Amino acid sequence: MNRLNRRLSGNVLALSLIAGLAFTSAGPLGAAPAFAQDQPVKKESRRRATKEVKPIELTPAQIAELTKLANDRQLNVDDLLSAAKTYTPSGRHDEYLLFSSGGQSGQVFVIGVPSMRLLRSISVFTPESWQGYGFSGENDPIREHLKINNTPVEWGDTHHPALSETKGEYDGQFLFIGDKANARVAVIDLRDFETKQIVKNPLTISDHGASFVTPDTDYIVEGGQYATVLGYGYALPEDYKKSYRGMVTFWKFDRTKGRIDEANSFALELPPYWQDLADAGKAACDGFVFVNSFNVEMATGGVESGKPPFEAGASQRDTDYLHIIDWKKAAAAFKAGKAEKINGFPVLKIATSVSEGVLCFAPEPKSPHGVDVTPNGQFIVVAGKLDPHVTVYGADKLKKAIADKKYSGKDEYGVPILDFDSVVEAQVELGLGPLHTQFDNQGYAYTSLFLDSAVARWSLGGEYAKLHAEQPWKLVTKTSVQYNIGHLCAAEGDSASPDGKFLIAMNKWSVDRFYPTGPLLPQNFQLVDIAGTGTAMPVVYDMPLGVGEPHYCQMIKADKLKPFLVYPEVGWNPHTQALDPNAPKQGSEGVVRSGNKVTINMTAIRSHFTPEHVMIEEGDHVTWRITAIESTQDATHGFCIGGYNINLSLEPGEFTEFTFVANHSGTYPFYCTEFCSALHLEMMGYLHIKPKTAPNAAAPANGTPVSTTSK
Ligand code: CUA
Repeated sequence: MNRLNRRLSGNVLALSLIAGLAFTSAGPLGAAPAFAQDQPVKKESRRRATKEVKPIELTPAQIAELTKLANDRQLNVDDLLSAAKTYTPSGRHDEYLLFSSGGQSGQVFVIGVPSMRLLRSISVFTPESWQGYGFSGENDPIREHLKINNTPVEWGDTHHPALSETKGEYDGQFLFIGDKANARVAVIDLRDFETKQIVKNPLTISDHGASFVTPDTDYIVEGGQYATVLGYGYALPEDYKKSYRGMVTFWKFDRTKGRIDEANSFALELPPYWQDLADAGKAACDGFVFVNSFNVEMATGGVESGKPPFEAGASQRDTDYLHIIDWKKAAAAFKAGKAEKINGFPVLKIATSVSEGVLCFAPEPKSPHGVDVTPNGQFIVVAGKLDPHVTVYGADKLKKAIADKKYSGKDEYGVPILDFDSVVEAQVELGLGPLHTQFDNQGYAYTSLFLDSAVARWSLGGEYAKLHAEQPWKLVTKTSVQYNIGHLCAAEGDSASPDGKFLIAMNKWSVDRFYPTGPLLPQNFQLVDIAGTGTAMPVVYDMPLGVGEPHYCQMIKADKLKPFLVYPEVGWNPHTQALDPNAPKQGSEGVVRSGNKVTINMTAIRSHFTPEHVMIEEGDHVTWRITAIESTQDATHGFCIGGYNINLSLEPGEFTEFTFVANHSGTYPFYCTEFCSALHLEMMGYLHIKPKTAPNAAAPANGTPVSTTSK
């Protein structure tokens, strides 16, 4: 090929690239077909899940092929059935979405069920560059927000996600997640799957029991754990009983604003037992929140001084206390001004809670972990991790015992203790290390057995007895899982009407399940098929998750979610969920200077930024605004400036603003970090930061808009 030919073919390539580009882009490169931006793509053509599939009948030749394949790969019939239950053809959507905590990663993961495909992470307590979360320059509002006592705390130990509920049903609007390490709760808006708010508990440094919601999401419940001096105070272990306290916080949720209303939130002071998980009552026990506890022994450890270690000291007694909290009475007492301020936050003291009838206890065996309310609210299930039984409390019995003041005594803080026999409905022996319980639509409960490494299916009584063939309150079957299951999660399993069908076993150890990745191994999410009855309950899929120790998850029917496909208007601010008046518009791009403050107004569309050259000076305080003027689904751009720790995700329609001080002069290429188009590599520009000492470099005069580029 001679040089001319080479040049020609290069031009042809460039032309075809641009032509190909024009096909999927509106904007300056030419009139785009309606497909690109003007008309939304019809749902039916995108969502192949709704496509009609004809019933199949295997021919003898196909059976032979399948049999050979199975034998070659050493698969048995159960394996083939498992594959058929989980394999999800390209383009088909999952029936459920799993929102999983991300453990020490500080994030939330979204996983499709039954395919067990990871769909995305949601940055919450940890900056994450792909989403541009915390990479908006020097005073990034997210990093400012993550500070505690002015110290950057840029990770979290995410524990319990809670989907917002309406009448006890997941409504698909919001997700809340707690950070155990730092006692924080975050609000995620499920229209764009982004974190909108993080609140820090003003009473404790760390906690465990967040988040749980009341049936209409009036309150988000954040339970404590390790007792401490409320309000970040100080006291030695000798003063434990006098000075240490537990707590549970009720964060008021304002659904219209999509934010926690801190001014109308309050807490309960609790004895210094280690409060653990919580669950809000519903239906038959609406108005209550149940919180269990361990270490009612109030052991203070001190193995270094020859005292019994925490794990021995905290496990001596046969019973701990289930905390029964009437949150409606608590809210009324708070509104009546009966709370006292600790660290500026209103707290109902123990004596107030007792006199207002807000708080009482029921004995619960023995160092329990999970407390779970049945979907109809009739029963409250507590699993004592050192007791092979689950203990089931009856809601009617609890209410009657409270009304009749059927107490067996008081604890040393004056909290009345209900008579155990008056409130217990049943105890069911399941196996070793029962932790957490979920429910299905067939009258079964499912409890994780940590020490047995198994999921136990057992039969409920009461109204549920007519749904299954077994005797009530009996172990039905156990399925082994690999290994050491913590939480488990059934489809819509914490709602008023669970779906059954699928259950996730969240296993802490994976040991030999996957090819070893060094000494640090992934967690193992096992998908369990619970659609059957009796002993039919196979594990059908293993999903390794090598990004922290996910703690708990909730599973929602996917079609309950109504996410934005693109932001509703070009120039949308995801933080306010509204069109932003500061969003740069096409045609008004440029740089505006006022003293040493410069504002850069930029737009981004395939395949260029406008302006492409940005001239500023060393020491300038820069406010940089970018509007992604795309409205095509998935036409996402990125924007990074190397050396300045800046990377943004510019989703279709999104407006982003970031600030930095241009402390280092130089000529900095900026570029798009998403492979958005065939000319993605050309989607770049230069930031020219003129050195203070440079005599000749050009910079715009005050107030002079830099001319906009257009092709
Ligand atoms: Cu825009 Cu790559």
